[in-house]
Amino acid sequence: MPETAPPPDPCALVIFGAAGDLTKRLLVPALYHLRQAKLLPSELTLIGIARQEMTTEAFRAEFGAALRQFETVAVDQNDWQWVADRAHYLAGTFEDPDTYAKLEQLLARTQAQRAGSRNCLFYLATPPQAFAVVVHRLSEAGLTHEEPGSWRRIIIEKPFGTDLASAQALNRDILSVLAETQVYRIDHYLGKETVQNIMVFRFGNGIFEPLWDRDHIDHVQITVAETVGVEARGRFYDQTGALRDMVPNHLCQLLALTAMEPPTCFGADDVRTEKTKVLDALHRLRPQDVATSVVRGQYGAGLVNGAKIEAYRQSSNVAPDSATATYVALKLTIDNWRWAGVPFYLRTGKALAKRRTEVAIQFKRAPLALFRDTPVERLIPNDLVLHIQPEEGATLQFSAKVPGPVVRIGGVEMKFHYEDYFKAAPSTGYETLIYDCMLGDATLFQRADTIEAGWRVVQPILDAWQQDGGADLPIYRAGTEGPKEAEALLARDHRHWRPIADPGEVTS
Ligand code: BG6
Repeated sequence: MPETAPPPDPCALVIFGAAGDLTKRLLVPALYHLRQAKLLPSELTLIGIARQEMTTEAFRAEFGAALRQFETVAVDQNDWQWVADRAHYLAGTFEDPDTYAKLEQLLARTQAQRAGSRNCLFYLATPPQAFAVVVHRLSEAGLTHEEPGSWRRIIIEKPFGTDLASAQALNRDILSVLAETQVYRIDHYLGKETVQNIMVFRFGNGIFEPLWDRDHIDHVQITVAETVGVEARGRFYDQTGALRDMVPNHLCQLLALTAMEPPTCFGADDVRTEKTKVLDALHRLRPQDVATSVVRGQYGAGLVNGAKIEAYRQSSNVAPDSATATYVALKLTIDNWRWAGVPFYLRTGKALAKRRTEVAIQFKRAPLALFRDTPVERLIPNDLVLHIQPEEGATLQFSAKVPGPVVRIGGVEMKFHYEDYFKAAPSTGYETLIYDCMLGDATLFQRADTIEAGWRVVQPILDAWQQDGGADLPIYRAGTEGPKEAEALLARDHRHWRPIADPGEVTS
């Protein structure tokens, strides 16, 4: 958001799933941060809806406790009180039409606090099975109806579908009662500063874009490595797995931002159209390609950062013979003029050696070694690495002469660290998303066709895995770089992955 960003117009923010983990861990701190930055409308009503009976006072106290638990610095009491004073609680189930009748009354009762505004943002922080129900009930109650001069918008969390067909069905269902302009589908990766920076890096600088193509780039590696295991999410994760959980959304978004064509302007639809186009241009894997282009794995017991972690199959709510992959690596190619022949290698996994999310662009080597005794293979390839998290910044690697009478070539790095240049306030990533939605800017949200394009990429893999029932699933030791089969995927192309842990770093 711009430094001198204006607060949005008066509105109500209604959170469905207000007692849930997402609300407590991310939405409450985000609202508080927005207040601190003076980026909430001063005429705001907050309404939390959940099943359990609770008074508004108890709800405010729970909100406050959550904020103190999840905020990393001391909470400013005035700013917190400002948010709490605007909060109301409504007990009800998502299916019951009565919940919506009560919501309508509460919105009417509090309308004067919002200077008469009808603007309303509904945030669906609910389990995915409730998305369509809540949308339909809201619509039946007339709550999604937009009158001239006012808006009604809905933020929908992930996962959006479990495969291509279910995502298409959910889109059809939602769009049967809402206009696309009212729907804001979340991918929280787009709320991350460093992810947004990929576009600025590419299109805000003159020097990179001329090199950003098949003539200069050898390949791209996109890594989202996590150290966490499945933790308490066994029930969800065992049905989901690494591929569904991370690839059609987060990894596809990183790929789209890295590979898209420059949009004609930064309007929401211009950006989203370019992202969708590049995802649509990804070469469709055929069933026989899945065996050669995709590797999966599941973590066994091990040590992550020195702490013991039990095998995935031993985790609670996970089947003891589960064939769910907790790691996936894949090779994709893009059938367009800019990228023909340039592989994009993607990998993501849980219980790995180190938490590291990055996009690494490896440029082609210099065609000749300058010095007769230096074989061209010994030249350091130029890697440009965009560090997304936890390190935030960019590194460019290149060759330099090692000082001394003999000409020797060594690899060196230029590094940019965000923290060296910018002082950022604490952020969950949801601040920008809530603020943008209140302003009606959908750039950082997924459009129906973008979501479906992501699912289209992984659908052949889901189909192939369904057929083989997870046969020969490699098990990798927790705290390592993942299954050795992933190394073989790149070795076949005479390439290798960048290490996840730094060389020499002891992680397991
Ligand atoms: C979520 C996945 O979407 O993203 C989780 O469901 C994953 O399994 C998380 O851990 C990763 O997000 P982040 O912001 O920690 O990289």
